[in-house]
Amino acid sequence: MSTNRVVTPNSGDDDQLVEKSLRPRRLAEFIGQEKVVEQLRIAIAAARGRGEPLDHTLLYGPPGLGKTSLAGVLANEMGVNLRLTSGPAIERAGDLAAILTNLRPDDVLFIDEIHRLNRAIEEVLYPAMEDFALDIMVGKGPSARNLRLSLPRFTVIGATTRLALLTSPLRDRFGSVLRLEFYGDDALYEIVMRAARIFDITANDEGAREIARRARGTPRIVNRLLRRVRDYAQVVGGGVITHEVAREALARLEVDELGLDENDRRLLRSIIELFRGGPVGLSTLAAALAEEVDAVEDVYEPFLLQLGFLQRTPRGRIATPRAYQHLGIPYREPGAGDGPGDQGRLW
Ligand SMILES: Nc1ncnc2c1ncn2[C@@H]1O[C@H](COP(=O)(O)OP(=O)(O)O)[C@@H](O)[C@H]1O
Ligand SMILES: [Mg+2]
Repeated sequence: MSTNRVVTPNSGDDDQLVEKSLRPRRLAEFIGQEKVVEQLRIAIAAARGRGEPLDHTLLYGPPGLGKTSLAGVLANEMGVNLRLTSGPAIERAGDLAAILTNLRPDDVLFIDEIHRLNRAIEEVLYPAMEDFALDIMVGKGPSARNLRLSLPRFTVIGATTRLALLTSPLRDRFGSVLRLEFYGDDALYEIVMRAARIFDITANDEGAREIARRARGTPRIVNRLLRRVRDYAQVVGGGVITHEVAREALARLEVDELGLDENDRRLLRSIIELFRGGPVGLSTLAAALAEEVDAVEDVYEPFLLQLGFLQRTPRGRIATPRAYQHLGIPYREPGAGDGPGDQGRLW
């Protein structure tokens, strides 16, 4: 059910079509994330000054915040090729060896979802990242020996939504580890205006601000909401996205003032109503919602945590007083009262 959500931070088919044209290409076009951008600016200048490839860089944070875009930006700024792959796409050590031996000096190898690389493949990556070397076994049995091939110097840019799932040896091989944060309303407003220019959409200030406010701090979502509101504006608003048009369109999409949709509200309501406010374990909660654990953790929770609607405790998830308030439900202490719902304790 999460696949058709208008506020999912994951990329759908129609997103992929437009995202190419929207991706910032240079660091100067990359809006927001000032801390990360500043660190990268320094890293780029330093690497260029030394005539070396950029340090291996790990980008982490929720989906849709610009990890893939930044990898492209970094390759452009360094004037090198970008090779794209992902943890799940590399099935065998030989697949990685083939990618590595095809790299050209200073290339950027982007590995998306790097936490999903399997262990045996990681072992191939270690010497490649550390010594620019590829170790291969030749022969079998007693005559088997290790052959070390040297690789050109290159940069790995890893991206992950789940830093905690990375093994520590892999994590340690990154010279810099950068965390992308949810965007503030001003940055999202600029992103809306930039996308509107690219797509030739007319949005006034208040209309654009309304879209920015409801985009859950996520550029991918702001761009998608803009397209949906544009459709509505074409049909009923004379083509212009005004405050009024944005509000009506977003109400129709059931995206509320804070950017929550029915799925988010359902998640919060389940914690409150089925589990008496929590604590409820992640897998119990996912089962109650008929959702994958990963979807709950990667897609739903980060923004609810950011809003302060949800708390993660060692015993499970708790809905906060703010969540009750947003849903218009009178607050009760977590787990208070009797009645059904002790399942929350099973965790
Ligand atoms: N800082 C930014 N400025 C402008 N647009 C951005 C920015 N970050 C992301 N985007 C837009 O959001 C979309 C999703 O970004 P992407 O890099 O694919 O995110 P991630 O890889 O973290 O899931 C991109 O198509 C891009 O248009
Ligand atoms: Mg990505």
